[in-house]
Amino acid sequence: MEKGVFVTGSNTGVGKTVIAAAIAASIKAHGLSVGVMKPVASGAKESCGKLISEDAVYLKKIIDSTDDDAIVNPILLKPPIAPTIAASQSGVSINIDKIWRAYEALSNKHDFVVVEGVGGLMVPIDDTHFVADLAHKMDLALIIVSGDYLGTINHTLLTVEYARNRNLRIKGIVINMLKNSDDFVREIEKYSSVPILGTIPFKENVSVEDCVYGDIVEDFRREINVSTIMRKET
Ligand SMILES: Nc1ncnc2c1ncn2[C@@H]1O[C@H](COP(=O)(O)OP(=O)(O)OP(=O)(O)O)[C@@H](O)[C@H]1O
Ligand SMILES: [Mg+2]
Repeated sequence: MEKGVFVTGSNTGVGKTVIAAAIAASIKAHGLSVGVMKPVASGAKESCGKLISEDAVYLKKIIDSTDDDAIVNPILLKPPIAPTIAASQSGVSINIDKIWRAYEALSNKHDFVVVEGVGGLMVPIDDTHFVADLAHKMDLALIIVSGDYLGTINHTLLTVEYARNRNLRIKGIVINMLKNSDDFVREIEKYSSVPILGTIPFKENVSVEDCVYGDIVEDFRREINVSTIMRKET
């Protein structure tokens, strides 16, 4: 069995957090102990005088995680921009070792860890690491979340190409927020040769910002066989 999965996206805002939450809940429903992780978050919000990552809150709440925020989200930056710029504007440097230590703690504690990346695979984390390096070091296969927007074919195929270039394993692609025609989905499958694990429609009652899940877990489980995500191919 895999020890976790790394959820990346064709772009920022495509639904990585929503899909990662649905994966975590579906795997927990299999009876496994699940951890969630957002290694780096920018755009921290203030709640009761404390800085929080909305993504980490959303991921934790769906599985009732009691893990320490310091290991779920070891790097939290306030400016809502790329991590390296956010760090420089905040006058801090990103300590990548904190990420490795936090992942190790979660991995030792749980059967399965769902990690959400930041933006896409080539978002820089520090001078020498991109998001792809996090997945590589954690030795986790990717789920690529793609959205229904003009440019998604290009972004998704570029993501697949780069993942292959970095020898990252790809479990498959999840198309999120499908609105009308799914013609573009067939194009992505044809040119990438990566399985489309399923498509999730746009749902009015889903919101990371308001921490509401609607029927996302039911939709996900109807559409996607979570065993494919858990099973390690030999
Ligand atoms: N299937 C869906 N139906 C309706 N709204 C959705 C769906 N999936 C995601 N959203 C909404 O779209 C927005 C972006 O989703 P999400 O935050 O999961 O993206 P992300 O890829 O994690 O973004 P980021 O790069 O900021 O981490 C959020 O407001 C979320 O509530
Ligand atoms: Mg997110």
